[in-house]
Amino acid sequence: MQYRPFGRLGWQVSEIGFGAWPLGGGMWGEQSDEESVAALHRFLDLGGNFIDTAQAYGDGRSERVIAKALRGRPGGGRVYLATKIPPRPGAWPPSPYDAIDDRYDEAYLRERLERSLRDLQVDCIDLVQLHTWNRAWNREPRALEALRRFRHEGKIQGAGISLPDHDPDAANELMRQGLVDSVQLIYNIFDQDPQAEAFPTARQHGVGVIVRVPFDEGSLTGKFTRDTAFPEGDFRRRYFEGDRLGRTVRRVEAIREALGRDEPDVAIAALKFTLKPHAVSTVIPGMRNVRQVELNCAVSEQPRMSDEVEKRLRPHGWRRSNWYQGK
Ligand SMILES: NC(=O)c1ccc[n+]([C@@H]2O[C@H](COP(=O)([O-])OP(=O)(O)OC[C@H]3O[C@@H](n4cnc5c(N)ncnc54)[C@H](OP(=O)(O)O)[C@@H]3O)[C@@H](O)[C@H]2O)c1
Repeated sequence: MQYRPFGRLGWQVSEIGFGAWPLGGGMWGEQSDEESVAALHRFLDLGGNFIDTAQAYGDGRSERVIAKALRGRPGGGRVYLATKIPPRPGAWPPSPYDAIDDRYDEAYLRERLERSLRDLQVDCIDLVQLHTWNRAWNREPRALEALRRFRHEGKIQGAGISLPDHDPDAANELMRQGLVDSVQLIYNIFDQDPQAEAFPTARQHGVGVIVRVPFDEGSLTGKFTRDTAFPEGDFRRRYFEGDRLGRTVRRVEAIREALGRDEPDVAIAALKFTLKPHAVSTVIPGMRNVRQVELNCAVSEQPRMSDEVEKRLRPHGWRRSNWYQGK
């Protein structure tokens, strides 16, 4: 496993991190805690040391299963835990008309922080991210001031924002002002927009970058066909509903052709593509079992994607702005 600096926080994090959304079950259909714990152990055995979770993943189940796995490894190496606090109930992503104090007031953030400290069974959380954001709040980012107070109290080490889908530049101003230690954004062969501003801004200002959804929820592993059916409860039934799955599969086939013999495995190429930018601190594929952990962690040991192949993939960017909300 290769390691990279996490912005100004000075951590050395595994470039493949563990995306722990599936461990919450729920929106990803059935998931057994035994399989989740085994996957987490394998990840740590292979040198992984960065885990991304959220209170929203199974209403705390993902955080609790991570705590359970870590309890089974006393004296293990340093593991960086990143979680997320959702805003108070309301529009997701937040509406530009929402007041920040109505969604992320300090008393609420404090209560939620205590909940994650309990569920993760730690005295201090490495990274707390606000689970979503709206640009309207950049003028008065009071929630970030609250997180800074939590840091001074020793309850968190770093504060970040998980950016709304398709708005990777929403926190650039906050990065320039030194108000966030990290951003989390979508970057993959389809979603290449962070290259324009978010990546250079993060690099310039020492901000850690967490890349989520490297496989476009699975399509960029190359394993779907137009006949793939998602199980009951799996949110991808909606995400890939109607003609979306067929259109996506056609695009993935075009990517496979572009990769040719240079990168014969689409899933490996998809991860290599996301690891290419220097601004990226860690890429966090969602993983549900030992096999996925082994396949994904192995990519860190492989030769990097060549500049030439990366350039070949650039025209495969694909903007699907209103797709994610299932509208
Ligand atoms: N707003 C936010 O803050 C936000 C939103 C989304 C995600 N995230 C974070 O980012 C992480 C990654 O995103 P994601 O999980 O949504 O999407 P993703 O990483 O693009 O896809 C993950 C899914 O792909 C499949 N998979 C993983 N490795 C594979 C492999 N080697 N071969 C074949 N299939 C494989 C697994 O599902 P199946 O086996 O069921 O196909 C897995 O759950 C999440 O876990 C979460 O931590 C944050």
